[in-house]
Amino acid sequence: MCGIVGYIGHRNAYDILIKGLKRLEYRGYDSAGIALSENDYRVYKCKGKVSDLENQTKDKDISGRIGMGHTRWATHGEPTDNNAHTHKSMNGKFVIIHNGIIENYAKLKAGLQKEGYKFESETDTEILANLIEFYYMRNQNGTSFSPEEAVRSALKMVEGAYGLVILCEDYPDQMIAARKGSPLVIGIGKDEYFIASDATPIIEYTNSVIYLNDDDIAVIDDKGLSLKNLKNIPQKPNVHKISLELSEIEKNGFDHYMLKEIYEQPKAIRDTYRGRLNFESKFLRLGGLHNIFEDLKGAKRIIIIACGTSWHAGLVGEYLFEEFTRIPTEVEYASEFRYRKPIINKGDIVIAISQSGETADTLAAIQLAKEAGAIVMGVCNVVGASIPRETIAGVFTHAGPEIGVASTKAFTAQVTVLTMMAMSIGLANNGLTKEEFTELVNELYAIPEKIEKILDKSEKIKEISDKISNATNSLYLGRGYLFPVALEGALKLKEISYIHAEGYPAAEMKHGPIALIDEKMPVIVLATKDKSYDKIVSNIQEVKARKGVIIAIVTEGDTTIKNMADYVIEVPKSDFALAPLLTVVPLQLMSYYIAVNRGCNVDQPRNLAKSVTVE
Ligand code: G6P
Repeated sequence: MCGIVGYIGHRNAYDILIKGLKRLEYRGYDSAGIALSENDYRVYKCKGKVSDLENQTKDKDISGRIGMGHTRWATHGEPTDNNAHTHKSMNGKFVIIHNGIIENYAKLKAGLQKEGYKFESETDTEILANLIEFYYMRNQNGTSFSPEEAVRSALKMVEGAYGLVILCEDYPDQMIAARKGSPLVIGIGKDEYFIASDATPIIEYTNSVIYLNDDDIAVIDDKGLSLKNLKNIPQKPNVHKISLELSEIEKNGFDHYMLKEIYEQPKAIRDTYRGRLNFESKFLRLGGLHNIFEDLKGAKRIIIIACGTSWHAGLVGEYLFEEFTRIPTEVEYASEFRYRKPIINKGDIVIAISQSGETADTLAAIQLAKEAGAIVMGVCNVVGASIPRETIAGVFTHAGPEIGVASTKAFTAQVTVLTMMAMSIGLANNGLTKEEFTELVNELYAIPEKIEKILDKSEKIKEISDKISNATNSLYLGRGYLFPVALEGALKLKEISYIHAEGYPAAEMKHGPIALIDEKMPVIVLATKDKSYDKIVSNIQEVKARKGVIIAIVTEGDTTIKNMADYVIEVPKSDFALAPLLTVVPLQLMSYYIAVNRGCNVDQPRNLAKSVTVE
């Protein structure tokens, strides 16, 4: 949540900041602001999108080779011009941008008020700007604090999370960045530095980056970059080379990132199993699990922690692990897990799933599990993110950057990784026979091509979507492996089209949701051929008896349901355990088309953010 970008070098900062903010807008789009420095500093900010900020700055002085920008997802204070970042300290000495939450803001504010500080906004960030200034000015006549020392003193008082960029009026050639909990990446160019919440604003200029660690404070000026921690101990900057290409973060002719990402799923899945799964030799090896594989094989219990769509992938994982490995598996919302005194035994395997690798609740749950002696591994999409760095093993999903706020290709890539994990553990601990394993290798290998076939039917899916775009409520039903897909389908619809949608295990329908069904209610039923097929056919009849509108996702060639449902969308036949990878695709497309029909902002749905770095 919130995107941060900073620049210090020889170019005009404004262009870099605006372009960078547009790339980071998926992290929040309640307001945008920039500060540019050239002897003094100028601040421009407004409620709304980066494009609104651009309009505001049209006739303004936008010179400056140092600057920073922010795109906000509101936490403290409504999305208003006043609450937009950047925030100045009361005496104008400091201007800062912030991603995160200052938890003890009330106490800090009260202390500053006693010192005569007044506040213009309702944000926790302004409190921090004033706290830094307080330390800077208080000591100026005594021991003379540098801006860096003032920042360090202030941050020692702070409870919460922050990614910060700070400018000081008295040091116009210097920029300070600090991190705890919220991500910050520094790009290193020739005599220039870029700071951002993730690498997307940076890759156009350099592929050398440093990922700041918690408690790092970086000072950048004409002399270069110096890195120390909160205790003032110098830190060695580890420079990484990133391989992200610019084309990966552009729309490439698609109307929206979400649609592009839906269409990228065959590639995302192939990239995720490439080099790990060998179709010819029926060999599967996940290098990132090598150091814990013996523990995985002998595990007594697996706990999966995640949020949002990643949690739905985790639910599919539960079915996969229990079926293929016979290891008891539980799935928890990270936010519940971290606060409910969970029982974690030494040697339990904890799998944290996260597209961004930065979700605050998931990170906190990881910490808790580590302290309790669990073996904690990650399934993440973003290399260099916090979760892969906080876990001792893991498997990356090679889905490529996901920019649409509604997750699509990350989900299928996560399910692909979990399938491969369950398969390799299952083969090793005899949960699967060699024949079953071989069959699954063949099936998984064929999935991308089958998704391509579904994507070829997008016109038909669009026609069905047109028919139900005016609905106000909807129900998604599935059984077994397809129950998590029902949840994911409902989430996709509600988050981008604002139609109320509920996902339910099909058999549970009669314990409540059936009361909602009438001729206006679309009921999307996941009904591919498997052992519970007859049961789902009965569920469809129950809905039809109440005049509900059935949209059924069925296996190619199914005639039984075709005769009962209002609309059917066919998907190719697959092993039942892999059906989530196929059946979720028409649901993603339906949500997309419905949201477009309703005139919604598909890539930036209201109130949401892609990377949730606050609780
Ligand atoms: C937000 C996003 C979702 C995502 C969830 C978890 O709510 O909008 O798309 O599933 O966070 O994020 P993570 O990065 O941990 O997978």
